[in-house]
Amino acid sequence: MSDRPILRIEGMKTRFFTEEGQVNAVENVDIEISDGEVFGVVGESGSGKSVTALSLLGLLESPGQVTDGQIWYRSAGLADSVEEKVPEAVNGDEVDLLALPDRLRRTLRGTHFSMIFQDPMSSFNPSLTVGEQIAEAVEAQRRARSNPRSVASRTQGYGLRQYLMSFVSSSREYVSEESRARAIELLEMVGIPDPVLRADEHPHEYSGGMLQRAMVAQALAGEPEVLIADEPTTALDVTIQAQVLDLLDDLQSETGMTILLITHNLGVVARMCDTVGVMYAGEIVERGTLTDVFDSPVHPYTKGLLGSVPNLDGAGDRLKPIAGNVPSLLDHEMEDRCYFADRCPKAMETCLEKPPELDARVGSENHTTMCYLADEPYNEAVALPDGYFESETTEREAAADGGSGVGERGADTEAGGANR
Ligand SMILES: Nc1ncnc2c1ncn2[C@@H]1O[C@H](COP(=O)(O)OP(=O)(O)OP(=O)(O)O)[C@@H](O)[C@H]1O
Ligand code: SF4
Ligand SMILES: [Mg+2]
Repeated sequence: MSDRPILRIEGMKTRFFTEEGQVNAVENVDIEISDGEVFGVVGESGSGKSVTALSLLGLLESPGQVTDGQIWYRSAGLADSVEEKVPEAVNGDEVDLLALPDRLRRTLRGTHFSMIFQDPMSSFNPSLTVGEQIAEAVEAQRRARSNPRSVASRTQGYGLRQYLMSFVSSSREYVSEESRARAIELLEMVGIPDPVLRADEHPHEYSGGMLQRAMVAQALAGEPEVLIADEPTTALDVTIQAQVLDLLDDLQSETGMTILLITHNLGVVARMCDTVGVMYAGEIVERGTLTDVFDSPVHPYTKGLLGSVPNLDGAGDRLKPIAGNVPSLLDHEMEDRCYFADRCPKAMETCLEKPPELDARVGSENHTTMCYLADEPYNEAVALPDGYFESETTEREAAADGGSGVGERGADTEAGGANR
């Protein structure tokens, strides 16, 4: 594993501009992933994990938009090939993906980056055989790489003849023998028994675990540098989960690829990850090595998550809910204070003054957290009294019923949210 980051996400913000208002789904996210590392993103439902992955891959759909930040991807070959056309996107051997035109960014998917999703059924076309679909993915990546004008121009022995053939016939009609053979190799690599026969079967003939393996094979078709796995085992039973995790583990060791692993499951994080980012309400509230975060957590949310799992040894241990709910991410409803305050057993008066913007270092060099406790010890004298938030809610509801105060109060809150 190289110490130099292959990926640096800096200050990324993602918004959804909906009829109800602006949703601040991802807020100033910073993530640094070293070459060959497995970085886990963990957090409750709705915390912004998938939106972070989609933003990274340029797969957000309207009304979603990355409104701020940079995504620096280290690739000397890519930097060379785009420097002339998009000089503002290049810094040495790093390329800011957000500064690339969509057309260029699309060519990176499959070759530099691949994604596996929770539900393999929705990723396969039910009317085509699994082998055909993987062969098509191989074919597409080979074409992209052999295209002399492509940014992914590392050729893989895919000759000019095949490249020219691809213009004469559509992709579905023309898939080279090499690509078909490679698809079978990939199926074998991910542990599909009788891959030659199985390649001719349709997705519904595969079990859930086998289809998940086939999706991993498809994601590997372009030999990506970075694999993004969004809840890759959630839909599987515990035994199959363990097999798929073993597979990812083995592939990571063999190929040295970098993995961004998104999960609700702390057992999966404990088993797979080198570093961890804990996500809450669109922010990474604590990050560090697995040991930093699991053995010396600082943020009360991280502590709550860890405390909610009885045993981290097994892949079957899932997060149990912490009391309270994830706050609304609608900009005009977001409070101008720590977003976790109303669920935090350590909330103090300071926590209500403004959100803890600091990303303070705690303990080891790369262990940081977004919490006032990183800088000042918990002080019971300024702790919020029990029931503080319940009475605040009651007061607010009373004000809403009373009429005239509503506008002013709402306006205050809105301004606070917008200032974030
Ligand atoms: N198309 C959309 N329009 C409006 N808001 C959206 C849209 N997609 C996602 N969001 C919001 O973005 C926030 C983050 O969603 P995201 O899907 O990233 O959560 P998650 O952490 O992946 O949750 P889960 O664990 O359930 O998959 C949520 O509040 C969600 O409501
Ligand atoms: S800043 Fe305060 S309320 Fe927020 S997590 Fe830290 S201690 Fe709790
Ligand atoms: Mg998700």
